[in-house]
Amino acid sequence: MKRETIVVMDFGGQYNQLIARRVRECNVYCEVHPYNVELDKLKEMNLKGIIFTGGPNSVYAEGSPLCGKEVFQLGVPVLGICYGSQLMAYLLGGNVSTAPVSEYGKTEVEVDNSKVLFQGVSATTICWMSHTDYIEKVPEGFTVTAHTPVCPVAGMECAERGLYAVQFHPEVMHTQEGMKMLHNFVADICGCKGDWKMDSFVETSIAAIREKVGNGKALCALSGGVDSSVAAVLLAKAIGKQLTCVFVDHGLLRKNEGDEVEEIFGPNGAYDLNFVRVNAQERFYAKLAGVEEPEQKRKIIGEEFIRVFEEEAKKIGAVDYLVQGTIYPDVIESGLGKSAVIKSHHNVGGLPDCVDFKEIIEPLRLLFKDEVRKAGLELGIPEKLVYRQPFPGPGLGVRIVGEVTAEKVRIVQDADAIYREEVGKAGLDKGLGQYFAALTNMRSVGVMGDERTYDYAVALRAVETSDFMTAEAVHLPWEVLSVVTSRIVNEVKGVNRVLYDCTGKPPGTIEFE
Ligand code: XMP
Repeated sequence: MKRETIVVMDFGGQYNQLIARRVRECNVYCEVHPYNVELDKLKEMNLKGIIFTGGPNSVYAEGSPLCGKEVFQLGVPVLGICYGSQLMAYLLGGNVSTAPVSEYGKTEVEVDNSKVLFQGVSATTICWMSHTDYIEKVPEGFTVTAHTPVCPVAGMECAERGLYAVQFHPEVMHTQEGMKMLHNFVADICGCKGDWKMDSFVETSIAAIREKVGNGKALCALSGGVDSSVAAVLLAKAIGKQLTCVFVDHGLLRKNEGDEVEEIFGPNGAYDLNFVRVNAQERFYAKLAGVEEPEQKRKIIGEEFIRVFEEEAKKIGAVDYLVQGTIYPDVIESGLGKSAVIKSHHNVGGLPDCVDFKEIIEPLRLLFKDEVRKAGLELGIPEKLVYRQPFPGPGLGVRIVGEVTAEKVRIVQDADAIYREEVGKAGLDKGLGQYFAALTNMRSVGVMGDERTYDYAVALRAVETSDFMTAEAVHLPWEVLSVVTSRIVNEVKGVNRVLYDCTGKPPGTIEFE
């Protein structure tokens, strides 16, 4: 039995992934495809419904992403959102034009809550609007189901044909009852039962991996991050000792992290797998000695990582499968038919070339990050690891400005551990984006006791981000920052100043290199 699927057709909107995540929150499996996806591909699925995303274009503009009307003949309901709603109107003979007044932001919308899409929704409800065009006239057979004082068609439907549209964005949290509307769509209009649950995902994945791997051998590069850890545990549960995990400690991990990874995955840990820890700190520090240029440091770390991994892989010999923790956002194609937007430059990549294997297994390929976390909890991985914040492959190498030395690594590890501990104690850690200490390359004069000091400045950084492309500095409470500051200067030898980085991205980056 194929699982029931909702397809999001991406017309270039910024919320395409968010729509899919929201649908999955309704326990319905959802995939994102480009707007020009071949319909035959959709026919192969157990397709239950389609959602058109928003997008920055105007349906009339040259080169706008359009799809054919055949999509309405697939026999499943379609929900158009924003640009998607205008497109539905346009394709079916309605009128779309530039609105006399464009709406942006939270807007009161009057909805007809006798309609299934809006059942249980208040008659006047706050929705997120962002449009300059609007539907002026609905296509034949459609009725208006929502409006605002300046937007006559904030919602329309032709229930007999299973077609629904909203001008606002139900997927963003500013639309207060948006989840209800999406739930109504997938459950009551598309008739989905809601069979997408993490426990069954875990179970079926384990069975599928077992069947695929048979008696073969698999190799996994374990970083201690969430994705590779969850992938490793899934494999371990499926094939046990046929899996070898290689964990390269490059000496640029957070304080105690290497030991923590070993505790979980090593011989005394909970899993029955082959675990190899390579303590390669000295090798990395030697290669990094005297190197100040950030890109060069990244390259050195990336290359050395591959060398170390390659050496270990050689000892293990040829394997049948290489396990990778790729997740769904890395797989999704962008709506305009271009290749996926991936942080490829970021990854300590190139592993597949250096290992002799037949095939790659990517057990998390279909999951969003929050689902990876749920799967991790389902698999019994400790919360501390499951909720770990993102940590770059090159590790503290991109949090030390200038030359990397063992001494500087020690300083930044200690400062960062204090920072994380205090943020945790203040109860601010859950939900806070990314936060860490970095070591500037600046030394300055200070005084401690009656002694003059000439020591480093540590920079604290905390950012909120939804996509890592842009970020804003977080206003951490002063009381927390002052405790962190005083602990760092008192407890971390070599530091006499603590600075807080108030820069967003752009113009900064999230990391501090
Ligand atoms: P930047 O510094 O580019 O970071 O604003 C954006 C996000 O990417 C993470 N990052 C990396 N992740 N390998 C990774 O796996 C890397 O080389 C790398 N560089 C940056 C960074 O932590 C942030 O979440």
